[in-house]
Amino acid sequence: TITGAGALEILDSRGRPTVEAHLALSDGTTARASVPSGASTGRHEAVERRDGDPARYGGRGVLGAVEAVNGEIAAALRGMEPQQRTVDQALLALDATADKSRLGANAMLAVSLATARAAAKVAGVPLWRHLAGGGPVSLPMPMVNIVSGGLHAGRQLDFQDFLAIPAGARTYSEALEWVVRLHGAMGTVLAERGLSTLKADEGGYGPRLDDHRAALRLMDDAVARAGLRPGDDVVYALDVAATHFFTGDAYRLDSEGRTLSADALAQYIGDLAAEHPIASVEDPLAEDDWPAWAAFTQRLGDGLQIVGDDLFTTNLARLDRGIAERSANAVLVKMNQIGTISETLDVVARAKEAGFRTVISARSGETEDPALADLAVGTRSGQIKVGSVTGGERLAKYNRLLRIERELGDRAAFAGWGGDG
Ligand code: PGA
Ligand code: ZN
Repeated sequence: TITGAGALEILDSRGRPTVEAHLALSDGTTARASVPSGASTGRHEAVERRDGDPARYGGRGVLGAVEAVNGEIAAALRGMEPQQRTVDQALLALDATADKSRLGANAMLAVSLATARAAAKVAGVPLWRHLAGGGPVSLPMPMVNIVSGGLHAGRQLDFQDFLAIPAGARTYSEALEWVVRLHGAMGTVLAERGLSTLKADEGGYGPRLDDHRAALRLMDDAVARAGLRPGDDVVYALDVAATHFFTGDAYRLDSEGRTLSADALAQYIGDLAAEHPIASVEDPLAEDDWPAWAAFTQRLGDGLQIVGDDLFTTNLARLDRGIAERSANAVLVKMNQIGTISETLDVVARAKEAGFRTVISARSGETEDPALADLAVGTRSGQIKVGSVTGGERLAKYNRLLRIERELGDRAAFAGWGGDG
């Protein structure tokens, strides 16, 4: 039985405030969880509650969300069992808004996730096992940021992420070693060319480049430098994050000094995918450009994984629309886009039913909480996207997966490339 809930304001990887929640049970069990925060957020995400007081953290403080946990939420949960659906329902009923703006999705998710941890502890199992129920588990393929642009890198490029998927790796730990080698090789290649090796918000490099093709050529060079084969060992993924350069009726590529229609942008991305081993494209179009998404998927969806992030915002209603309209063939899953664990699990389940692939994703502002590693294993998601391979907040997730891999030993199934369970 839950006897207490509380929260405090902690800092994320950008040094911005976020919420950490604590739960106490009558048997002495305690659990805590913290939540991340995005920069390139979608309009349809659940609302992160911030104080807006310019005197503290430039208005980004979360003392109001903390107070919601300490006050209303604690009062509502006291006496309840740490049962996920029941607790999440109670949170939703208490908030009573469509976008979770009253209590704050940051407050709600922190409590929801702490509930999952508490329940796992009571059952005496790791979080991934608890989330899997009795079902099978597997380790996800990492999709790793190597070069950054967009809102994570001062808009040096319009596309947000150039990522590597170590598609040829046979185990999770081998996949991780390959991408770490590749990330290092990219640093060497950039330095040799006199380009900046400074890192962006997620640990990818943010060099000033002439255009998007230049980033892809750098990827080819770095893969070769790492002793890996592009297209075999490593394939690429783009997070175009097109919402963030959509003007309302066209797509403005500042870095290339041109403006493209949805159709021309699709053509451009298709060309890039023909020139380089690009296997996955996320948010190639803006978050509400539904007809353009369906056209894009019809055109390129056979050979390409097409991932909706801002499009779906881990929202079941939006995913249902995307399934019906064949807007994409994969969904990015971010717990804090929707704000409870139950709703997150429902989105993953629906995606799998529909044959959509799932990519469990971190945010650009992260904490050291590794829960999304457990979520990926427990739901047998095919892929995990944590940003790059630097920074304690990112490594907390990769290292958690290494520990799970070891714990599973011979039973450590690895999704490989394209292997959603
Ligand atoms: P965000 O970026 O966390 O800043 O939203 C991640 C992404 O777009 O996938
Ligand atoms: Zn994205």
